Amino acid sequence: MGTTDAVSERESLRDLAVAVAAEAGELAARGQEGITVLDTKSSPTDVVTEMDRATEDLIRTRLLAARPDDAVLGEEGDDEEGTSGVRWVVDPIDGTVNYLYGQPDWGVCVAAEVDGVVVAAAVNVPGRGRMYEAVLGGGARRDGRVLQAPPAVPLERALVATGFGYSSRRRLRQAQVLQGVIPYVRDIRRGGSAALDLVGLAEGYYNAYYERGLNLWDWAAPSLIAQEAGVRVAGARGGPPSEDLVIAGPPGLYEALDELLAPLGADTDG
Ligand code: IPD
Repeated sequence: MGTTDAVSERESLRDLAVAVAAEAGELAARGQEGITVLDTKSSPTDVVTEMDRATEDLIRTRLLAARPDDAVLGEEGDDEEGTSGVRWVVDPIDGTVNYLYGQPDWGVCVAAEVDGVVVAAAVNVPGRGRMYEAVLGGGARRDGRVLQAPPAVPLERALVATGFGYSSRRRLRQAQVLQGVIPYVRDIRRGGSAALDLVGLAEGYYNAYYERGLNLWDWAAPSLIAQEAGVRVAGARGGPPSEDLVIAGPPGLYEALDELLAPLGADTDG
């Protein structure tokens, strides 16, 4: 495929991601209006899981109607095999606990990979009326405005976003790591959505971010948006981002945070 063809393929994948994320966001937002915390019993399964599933079903249906030969990997539902070399990576609602509590900070994430590389992405945040999008090599935008992340600040002036997993064992470990981070940074934020944390770097809402235990669907779409805005998104020691650890920040700050995290064993459960 020529360069011009590759660019127009990425743009058309991005356009589809945005259209599908917009429709899915409307569905999920309507569903959120009917949910109260009292509807859930011991954990945010039942009603929230139901909306998660319905939203992902809509996304899968729309993607496969437009591109029947593509593969789909989603948080809910089985992996859909494909033959086109394009795989969609989907998180119908990232920030499910925020969603459950009626808060606005959750997002619908749709990313397209070509031969394993994320080339197009959309993150829709209906509660804030924001649509983020990016194309590999083509920059990141929010509602049409180009995003450029602010340059690095020294670690002691960095507002660092992070998140915690769902298991007690992992959380205990993450709390220990946090003890080793918080004295050396401006402050910590736990926003409740990894996707919003990552796109928040592109906006300058935070300076850096790290988290252990994310799934590919949590970071695929928002990472491309952050990267295209000039943020370095990687794993520990410059490796690829993975479930072990995702670290993000502008060049210079990424490295400083990585240095701080490495001796703390932030990429292990202890
Ligand atoms: C979670 C959120 C949260 C992060 C967790 C994720 P979910 O995703 O992104 O901020 O700390 O690690 O699992 O469960 O809301 O889709």
